Amino acid sequence: MRYIDQAPSFVQLHRPRADAVQPELIAGLLATPARIAPKFFYDALGSRLFDAITELPEYYPTRTEAAVFAQHGAEMARHLPEGAVLVDLGAGSCAKAARLFPLLQPSAYVPVDISVDYLRDTLAALQQRHPELPMLGLGMDFSTRFALGPDSATWLQERALAQRPRVVFYPGSSIGNFQPDEALALLCQTHAVCESGGTGGGLLIGVDRVKARTVLEPAYDDALGVTAAFNRNLLRHVNHLLQADFAPAAWQHVALFNADASRIEMHLQATGAQTVRWPEGERRFADGERLHTENSYKWQPEDFAALLREAGFGEPRHWTDANGWFSVFWAPV
Ligand code: AVJ
Repeated sequence: MRYIDQAPSFVQLHRPRADAVQPELIAGLLATPARIAPKFFYDALGSRLFDAITELPEYYPTRTEAAVFAQHGAEMARHLPEGAVLVDLGAGSCAKAARLFPLLQPSAYVPVDISVDYLRDTLAALQQRHPELPMLGLGMDFSTRFALGPDSATWLQERALAQRPRVVFYPGSSIGNFQPDEALALLCQTHAVCESGGTGGGLLIGVDRVKARTVLEPAYDDALGVTAAFNRNLLRHVNHLLQADFAPAAWQHVALFNADASRIEMHLQATGAQTVRWPEGERRFADGERLHTENSYKWQPEDFAALLREAGFGEPRHWTDANGWFSVFWAPV
């Protein structure tokens, strides 16, 4: 038997160093209204709480997206290139991409995630199950700028994969975290990544759609309180990053659908006036004052298709579920 080296390659393009994120966190805390970016949800515990959210009965996106893949996967595969380099944005547990391996037969797997330590662990386990598939983990914050970078280019060249088509996989409707103008910027950068590979590449992206408030709001305010814990865990993470003294128990989870902006908003609402301190500053919060922690935009499919075209992609197609709740788009380069 041939001995196979089962350790995936790992490039840490961006370990979110505490001192690098402090100015960003402080600026958000001192703003009115105060805000913390949703990327800070995903420390190791936050990533696990998010995985728990995806199992909740109220949280329809994950299972609806899975149903779209189960029902239309074979047809999707006919539009996607075989032997592509599969780039997985916000890979997390890598489970969704792994389910696509049989369908897409990728030549390499390149997961990208800000939660570096979590990705390193999950990727090591996945590599054991797929010892023959070259894997390159990229620890980076792609929300500010997305590119594969020179180390990845070298890695692909060394394996003769530079001319393979590139399929960027961005499932789960994580694109919903971006305002439309920011989403456009990320899609433009994604187009550039796809375009630098061989022909036939493109973007496979999950997009949550506008629907009744009675479906949307419980999905972000579940009966078990898992989403509330996920939201409050942000404060623990910020305490760690900033040496701050948030008291998570003093904050109430708020989730509401802002129909004008077409987005779910999550906030943390102070129960009682309080002052939060960190080494070089403080922020006073009035009783009932809100800290904005997340936007999750919901799209009409025609608007999202227009955004993809504006980003430079060719004519997109999409598949949806029986209720029309969630769409998976394929946008060729
Ligand atoms: C990971 C951004 C897709 O917006 O539905 C889930 C995050 N926040 N519950 C979403 C989230 C609260 C999720 N995304």
